[in-house]
Amino acid sequence: MITGTYKKTTDTSTGILMDDFDALKRHIEQTLKIQCNNYKEDYIKRRLLSRMRSTNSTNYEEYLRYLKTNPAEYEALRNALTINVTEFFRDNDVYECLRKDVLPDLFSKRKRLRIWCAGCSTGEEPYSIAMILHDFLIQDKTLAAQIFATDIDKVVLAKAQEGIYSQKAMVKLSESQIHRHFTKLPDGTYQAKPHLKELIRFRPHDLMGGTPISRWLDLVTCRNVTIYFTENQKDDLARLFHDALVTDGYYIMGKTEYLGRQVENLFVPSNSVHKIFMKKE
Ligand SMILES: C[S@@+](CC[C@H](N)C(=O)[O-])C[C@H]1O[C@@H](n2cnc3c(N)ncnc32)[C@H](O)[C@@H]1O
Repeated sequence: MITGTYKKTTDTSTGILMDDFDALKRHIEQTLKIQCNNYKEDYIKRRLLSRMRSTNSTNYEEYLRYLKTNPAEYEALRNALTINVTEFFRDNDVYECLRKDVLPDLFSKRKRLRIWCAGCSTGEEPYSIAMILHDFLIQDKTLAAQIFATDIDKVVLAKAQEGIYSQKAMVKLSESQIHRHFTKLPDGTYQAKPHLKELIRFRPHDLMGGTPISRWLDLVTCRNVTIYFTENQKDDLARLFHDALVTDGYYIMGKTEYLGRQVENLFVPSNSVHKIFMKKE
């Protein structure tokens, strides 16, 4: 059980010495370049506790010592802090709206679309969008599209760029989608075909840095990322996306995410159930 000393300031929920928490946060910021204060404190603590349990550290000080003497732990900690669970066509009905409503509307106004998939993790989200886009592009050769797929975590981004997925990861794809868009490799994994990869540019990018990956964007998807951010950070991010979008551009959030009071006037709902919004000037 994780206990900790009670000599100085202690955290009432965990009983762990807080002074060491600050030292650990500073070390994380210096080494992993992750700004802990941008995240809710509870979230950081929960993620740290999970690493402390896995490394049998009983308090923050002990974990900090473990971290400094076990370089491999830095990667494990980075992964824990930037959890990157994802899947192809996560919330399928959102992708149906993208196919039936959002993309037809955007292509009716412009022939060349610019899309930002922010917090893309291992790439399943941008590849899902690319599969849908490809259907539009082969039907009308005058159409074009570019997806900027970004994440703060370079490890997941490298996986995304490689585009190789286990058989288990393919479970939500139809036989036809697998056949058209992936090549089966000798070890039983599947690699995204060049026509999908050509639609996507993967780049590292910190959403808390205050600058968009590009401007004049037609669509921004940032799904299941902001749940880790403070209310102020979420509002700033909505303003950033608003700035980066063209008028009438779309912003798609995760199903459990919402627009804060301060920023809800920047967008109009296009589909409230699926958290699809349009930029308002
Ligand atoms: C749960 S995954 C979401 C993946 C995908 N969008 C989806 O909905 O399936 C959250 C991703 O957000 C990324 N992330 C967390 N903080 C970030 C930040 N400040 N800037 C960019 N990406 C961030 C994590 O690295 C992780 O890959």
